Amino acid sequence: MRVVLFTGKGGVGKTTLAAATAAHLAAAGRPALAVSTDPAHSLGDALEADLTGEPRELAPGLWAAHVDTRALLDRSWAQLQGHLRTLLAGAGVDELVADELTVLPGVEDLLALGEVRRLAESGPWEVVVVDCGPTAETLRLLGLPEALSGYVERLFPAHRRAVRGMLAGLAPGGREAAPAWESTIAAVDALAEDLAALRALLGDHTRTSIRLVLTPERVVAAETRRTITALALHGLRVDDVVVNRVMPRPPPSLRGPAARWLRERHTEQQAVLADLDALDLPLRTSAYAAAEPTGRTALAAVAAALYGADDPAAPGTAAGPLLQVHRTAGTGTSRDSEFELVLRLPGAAGGALDLTRIGDELAVTLDGTRRMVALPAVLQRCEVTGARLADDDLVVVFAPDPEVWMR
Ligand SMILES: Nc1ncnc2c1ncn2[C@@H]1O[C@H](COP(=O)(O)OP(=O)(O)OP(=O)(O)O)[C@@H](O)[C@H]1O
Ligand SMILES: [Mg+2]
Repeated sequence: MRVVLFTGKGGVGKTTLAAATAAHLAAAGRPALAVSTDPAHSLGDALEADLTGEPRELAPGLWAAHVDTRALLDRSWAQLQGHLRTLLAGAGVDELVADELTVLPGVEDLLALGEVRRLAESGPWEVVVVDCGPTAETLRLLGLPEALSGYVERLFPAHRRAVRGMLAGLAPGGREAAPAWESTIAAVDALAEDLAALRALLGDHTRTSIRLVLTPERVVAAETRRTITALALHGLRVDDVVVNRVMPRPPPSLRGPAARWLRERHTEQQAVLADLDALDLPLRTSAYAAAEPTGRTALAAVAAALYGADDPAAPGTAAGPLLQVHRTAGTGTSRDSEFELVLRLPGAAGGALDLTRIGDELAVTLDGTRRMVALPAVLQRCEVTGARLADDDLVVVFAPDPEVWMR
């Protein structure tokens, strides 16, 4: 079972490429489910079919569904939220504050991904292709299991027994109400477990592929590196970049203003593609089609051109480095703070390594291959004070740059 996730900015072609990938797999005899977690739900338009929350077989081996977040929200979250509110109110937390605490931004998205995990395990499909919402949303969503686990931990610290006793004591109704708290804690435990499983699935390179879709516009390379960094900080690696809407090279015999326009666009796009090479990730390109590719036939043609003889569900061979940021001194806001950026670089030990800071990015060269890594926000206001290698981890030490730290 593999999960292949398509993410990227709005309108770049995520839905089209996810649908095309699923259709391509099914046509090759590999059962696939295309599922959309994007509330905009254009997967049905791409596949020219009416979709619901229950997977529907559109062609032999090709299923599709739209995750209905509203319904999920009503079913599972509302109940737990009600429990939590009572519980917090019982623990003496002001009702308004309790309301705030139980409204979790992004919980719908999280439920949607949870549903993807459930679907992945519940059907005859071999591959689940996920059409995610736009990047900003998706990023938050992919980091959410971690954020929510932290939140659950904060509300209900690990010493649950003590908490249980305390809650039973504090609760209106005292000890008699204990079973209600027990069931709430059990529900929170179940949620935390679901989250852990979801994180494990998304962060597991062998089970999940994250494909970043983009169009070759001027600023896209730097932005893509920021996205890759943000995902890497959540333990998620992009293993393939798909550049969509690439202009064909106009034949030299073509003349006139339209040909000039095409040639200029083509040249500009090729420059962006050259820039993207520094990502050191596999790049695939998909041509700008004259007509919108919708329906299984047109989608299959897109996928055939995109993958050729490659397996669309295979794990990427190269994946971006995983990142971690630790504070090693100071408060994190004070001038005497110190941070370490840890980059997991398979093969770094024993390799020829070179490191250069270029603006808000690091250029890491390992055995002659350079990759650019965008710095997380806090480190952009710091200067590099040292670096060392610990096995395959490159540790870069940062201290606040007095020039920009307070800004
Ligand atoms: N390679 C292509 N050639 C021509 N048209 C394309 C191509 N890829 C996508 N399109 C068209 O561009 C539009 C946007 O594509 P799509 O819906 O797949 O993007 P998206 O990233 O899912 O957008 P959203 O962020 O709104 O969900 C659609 O009308 C689609 O048919
Ligand atoms: Mg879409």
